[in-house]
Amino acid sequence: MRINEQLKQEIENRKKVEAKLRQSEERLELALRGADLGMWDWNVQTGEVRFNRRWVEMLGYEPDEIEPHVSAWKKLVHPDDMPRMEEVLKNHLEGRTPFYETEHRLLTRAGGWKWILVRGKVVHRDSDGRPVRTTGTHFDITERKKLESQLLHSQKMEAVGQLAGGVAHDFNNILSAIMSYGYLLRNKLRDDEQSRDNIDKILLLSDRAAHIIQGLLAFSRKQHFEFVPVKLNNTIRNIEKLLAKFIGEDVGLRTRLTNKEPAIIADKTQIEQIIMNLATNARDAMPEGGSFTIETEVVEIDENFIKTHGYGEPGIYALLSVTDKGTGMDEETKQKIFEPFFTTKEVGKGTGLGLSIIYGIVKQHNGYINVYSEPGKGATFRIYFPIIKAAAEKEKAKDLPDLSGKAEAILLAEDEPAVRDSIRKILEEFGYKVIDAEDGEDAVEKFAEHKDEIELLILDVVMPRKNGKETFEEIRKLKPGIKVLFTSGYTADIIQRRKILKEDVIFISKPILPNKFLAKIREVLEDERND
Ligand SMILES: Nc1ncnc2c1ncn2[C@@H]1O[C@H](COP(=O)(O)OP(=O)(O)OP(=O)(O)O)[C@@H](O)[C@H]1O
Ligand SMILES: [Mg+2]
Repeated sequence: MRINEQLKQEIENRKKVEAKLRQSEERLELALRGADLGMWDWNVQTGEVRFNRRWVEMLGYEPDEIEPHVSAWKKLVHPDDMPRMEEVLKNHLEGRTPFYETEHRLLTRAGGWKWILVRGKVVHRDSDGRPVRTTGTHFDITERKKLESQLLHSQKMEAVGQLAGGVAHDFNNILSAIMSYGYLLRNKLRDDEQSRDNIDKILLLSDRAAHIIQGLLAFSRKQHFEFVPVKLNNTIRNIEKLLAKFIGEDVGLRTRLTNKEPAIIADKTQIEQIIMNLATNARDAMPEGGSFTIETEVVEIDENFIKTHGYGEPGIYALLSVTDKGTGMDEETKQKIFEPFFTTKEVGKGTGLGLSIIYGIVKQHNGYINVYSEPGKGATFRIYFPIIKAAAEKEKAKDLPDLSGKAEAILLAEDEPAVRDSIRKILEEFGYKVIDAEDGEDAVEKFAEHKDEIELLILDVVMPRKNGKETFEEIRKLKPGIKVLFTSGYTADIIQRRKILKEDVIFISKPILPNKFLAKIREVLEDERND
């Protein structure tokens, strides 16, 4: 009887202990689950490892798919991360560090990589101090890593932008001076053909340098933009023909535009520039021909998007996607493409500014850009612009005002015959009377002949035999209050820096876009305060 009692007691006790153990095991499991941790328990001497369910599921495997041995585990470590992992582990096993802690990538079942934070500790050593048992956890930090690298990337771009902008600014001043002196010399050396030829070369090269600088300024967001409501689809439709010609017959151009007609706040010229730069790259990536597709969509950037991309403000966006079927890019190239002067093209073929300019423009429009590409599989660039509501209507109203002239006479001074002709044609087409001049002095003479008739001057800033400003000064003496519009191949930014014009003059940069140009002319002619 007493033995029976004892046995009963023992069974009771054992049950209690087992229940406690179960409880504590359950608590451990819940805690691990709550912290989203995978757990491992490694016998360092036999190599056996026990993984918990979360450990395997983190990587997308089924529990029995991973052999319970340390070699199976090591096989999953990214080769680039292996040396560091081995070193950190060795340091801990040999007792030089109190913990084993490292970050490395592990191969998922789907063939991708997950960033894992590994933490552990030797919990049992034999009498000689050799590690016997080591346990620890895994934590998935893939998302954090993505955010970190995104942040690093944007900080780097910011820094490069500041550097580029600073250099461009200083260099621009110097270049402006070189060009001004160049033009002075050119005027002086009119009759010396050889010297004039040399000067022309200097000016031509300076012009090219100015072009590069313009790109850098665009990248570093130091350019002045004119923001108005713009219908994205219209902008694409407007340049579609030109684009098709530009990319050549071997490349099929396709457009798929959303019927939602998204409107964005943008500088139309800059949007065109984005598309042209992307088209240039696509053309270069498809020397044998292929296809080039432009698409627009209306999409939402939500928390999910922000999580996967590591950037973005929630909201509704107009998405412009551009896809080519060209050579594509590897991961390493993709990392660098937005940096100024990064190019894989031969010397003389690319300056590496095309995408940097796009990056700068997109940022200034509060947008985002990303690229999807694999070697041999072409590339898709996606650009997100914040959408405006009800702005589409405004643009319509803006497009509507009558741009045609009321037979006003305009004196047009432009030394480049082709440019002069095209501007004259536009003006005549829209009902203006045009008197043209081929340089500054010619302009002054022609003005004197038609003094009473002429209501507006359109002067190229840079012309032989008197530049735009000098011409204007002289004509103003003949007729104070005459209205004027300056044109130039340089951006307003550069013109202002060169101090060629006062800040408040009205200025149009070439290439002249008829709509903008005609609207400016109406504005100037109808502005009573203009003197
Ligand atoms: N559609 C594309 N397909 C494949 N690679 C591309 C594509 N677009 C850009 N790249 C890569 O990105 C690099 C940088 O492009 P980016 O437009 O900034 O400069 P670039 O074209 O080399 O020179 P630039 O535009 O100044 O003439 C290119 O040299 C090329 O390696
Ligand atoms: Mg390019």
